[in-house]
Amino acid sequence: MRVDTDAGPIQTERLLLRRSVPDDAETISAYRSDPNVNAQQGWERTDVGSVRADIVEMSRRSPGEPGGWVQYTVEDRESGRIVGDVGLSLADPEPNVVKVGYTIAPEFQGSGYATEAIRALVDYAFDTLGADAVRAHASAANAPSIRVAEKVGMHLIEKREYRDGDEVWYGVRYEVRRDER
Ligand SMILES: CC(C)(COP(=O)(O)OP(=O)(O)OC[C@H]1O[C@@H](n2cnc3c(N)ncnc32)[C@H](O)[C@@H]1OP(=O)(O)O)[C@@H](O)C(=O)NCCC(=O)NCCS
Repeated sequence: MRVDTDAGPIQTERLLLRRSVPDDAETISAYRSDPNVNAQQGWERTDVGSVRADIVEMSRRSPGEPGGWVQYTVEDRESGRIVGDVGLSLADPEPNVVKVGYTIAPEFQGSGYATEAIRALVDYAFDTLGADAVRAHASAANAPSIRVAEKVGMHLIEKREYRDGDEVWYGVRYEVRRDER
């Protein structure tokens, strides 16, 4: 896996993916605190201070480096508004597997933004970082998330049962390998 210490912005037709900065915290905190968004996320604390601290922690890391997530803020290029965030992380200890995650603010969902951003991030993981596979995890009940994974070329690898006390839920793992692109 290559480490991209420059990690410049990634541009798509409508979007700009740039490393998240502390000033993004207020906007990101607002949509990540939405119960429908938060239910699908691993972030336990979504208050502005915690989001800012997470952004600072993640910004010390370069894409391709082990140790945790690297986050990009997704902006609409035309308006400059933040529409969501995406991230990547190594699937340690598996070599050369990159995990991606994605969140689009509710008011901007349904416009193909997640698909457009994740397609670019998958390309980046293969072409710049040299990944052999790119992976996404979701709840089996999260139809929009699964649809995004499918639209960027991933397919179902595994469905697993998870237990959290009395609660039982199913998680899915989607993946695309370099030779399947
Ligand atoms: C998942 C998420 C990022 C998708 O963002 P988005 O920008 O709306 O996604 P897109 O517009 O690119 O694509 C969504 C797809 O899901 C489909 N979809 C939406 N709701 C659906 C539903 N209830 N059932 C089936 N498909 C659905 C859309 O029709 C679209 O597919 P299509 O282009 O074939 O019509 C967004 O819903 C989100 O942030 N959810 C909360 C956080 C989350 O779940 N993150 C992923 C964690 S693994």
